[in-house]
Amino acid sequence: MTAFDTVIRHGTVVTASDTYQADVAIKDGRIGAIGAAITDAAEIVDASGLLVLPGGIDSHVHISQPSGPGIVMADDFESATRAAAFGGNTFVMPYCLQAKGQPLREALKDYHALAQQACYIDHSFHLIIADPSEAVLGQELPALVADGYTSLKIFMTYQDLALSDFQILGVLDVARETGALVQIHAENYDAIRFLTDKLERAGQIAPYFHGRSRPIPVEREATHRAISLAELIDVPIVIVHVSNREAMEEIRRAQMRGLTIVGETCPQYLLLTEEDMQGLNMEGAKYVCSPPPRDKVSQQACWEGLQRGVFALFSSDHCPFRYDDEEGKLTPKGRTSFRWVPNGIPGVETRLPILFSEGVSKGRISLNQFVALTATNHAKTYGLKGKGSIAIGYDADIALWDPTKTAKISQAGLHHGSDYTPYEGIEITGWPVATMLRGRFVVRDRKLVGAKGDGRYVTRGKPGA
Ligand code: URP
Ligand code: ZN
Ligand code: ZN
Repeated sequence: MTAFDTVIRHGTVVTASDTYQADVAIKDGRIGAIGAAITDAAEIVDASGLLVLPGGIDSHVHISQPSGPGIVMADDFESATRAAAFGGNTFVMPYCLQAKGQPLREALKDYHALAQQACYIDHSFHLIIADPSEAVLGQELPALVADGYTSLKIFMTYQDLALSDFQILGVLDVARETGALVQIHAENYDAIRFLTDKLERAGQIAPYFHGRSRPIPVEREATHRAISLAELIDVPIVIVHVSNREAMEEIRRAQMRGLTIVGETCPQYLLLTEEDMQGLNMEGAKYVCSPPPRDKVSQQACWEGLQRGVFALFSSDHCPFRYDDEEGKLTPKGRTSFRWVPNGIPGVETRLPILFSEGVSKGRISLNQFVALTATNHAKTYGLKGKGSIAIGYDADIALWDPTKTAKISQAGLHHGSDYTPYEGIEITGWPVATMLRGRFVVRDRKLVGAKGDGRYVTRGKPGA
């Protein structure tokens, strides 16, 4: 009988605050010891030359979410969590979308049924509140927060999802009462509708004009308004998928005033620009997401936000559709106007390699910032206990990284359900070579060794606690 089940030896351990050489010993799925020359284990994993990082936590992914008539998301829970594991992740937080009029528990039942026995890694749901009725705000939401569904997302845009300021205030008030954390998608719906109608009247219907229908002021104004509404209620919020300097500066100014406004940005705002939506014929549809990719100046601003801590979260906003598919980006209606092209791009598998390569390998952020932005801050922000760091007593959710491994991102090498990646051909330095969930390998030597169903649903505590 050995003291430990597994020990990872000779690696460099990285947390949000420290980088040091140590062996990491695992017992019953948890980290049992960290120290020098630990050998009393059933299995010894040699991590010489490798980094021992907490598994990535991606707190913004969309999986199996209904996306409009005739449109189907490219990933179910099996393929999305498999791709996530290959990308060095051990936890995802997908959304549970409430249909108008639907009781929240009914929506949750559907999503739990889809995820059960299908996941390779652990998960937890954010609720999307599409219909903040009296019953939802008065009874359903408080009861669910008490049951550990402690975060939700609301939208300031999209037909069927956009809430009025009155409704937003109602949701924020319940969040304050219950301790839930609200994510806000900040874009001005009326401005987008107005500009979309105008572009269509002028015959400007190609995917490229998606960007023109929601320029930076649309996001800046909504970000400012969301922050003001949160300030009125005196409640923390998360502004998700920030794409540019003006929105970032709104968040920074609010933070300077002492408000708890958490900022999130995503790979698309570091690497893509609106020019990508210019592709021939419908090629540009591959890059259509909201907010849209902007320009090089905006990319630089998003880097600054990550470097200075204005953004605590770097998430994928994985929202995968197939390109060459009438149920995806090439929906026949999409050819009649960008308005109908499904919004969203795949990215759960490439989030971490992109930030590692463009951030750590190119000297823009430190390894410790990388860990904070991709794992630790997600756990803290969303009340996920015992995950997101390499520490004694924490779940042994670990990714082994080879910081020198170079590769090109290519669709052929990815594991998601989409038939393309918006990052095709990008050169990467630094890849996760193994991913371990609660002490057991899910991916080892770039091969899947975990089983679907190994991933569990995890109930969360109060955000930020
Ligand atoms: O275009 C995007 N981001 N699609 C996903 C839905 C959302 O708003 O996050
Ligand atoms: Zn959104
Ligand atoms: Zn999203």
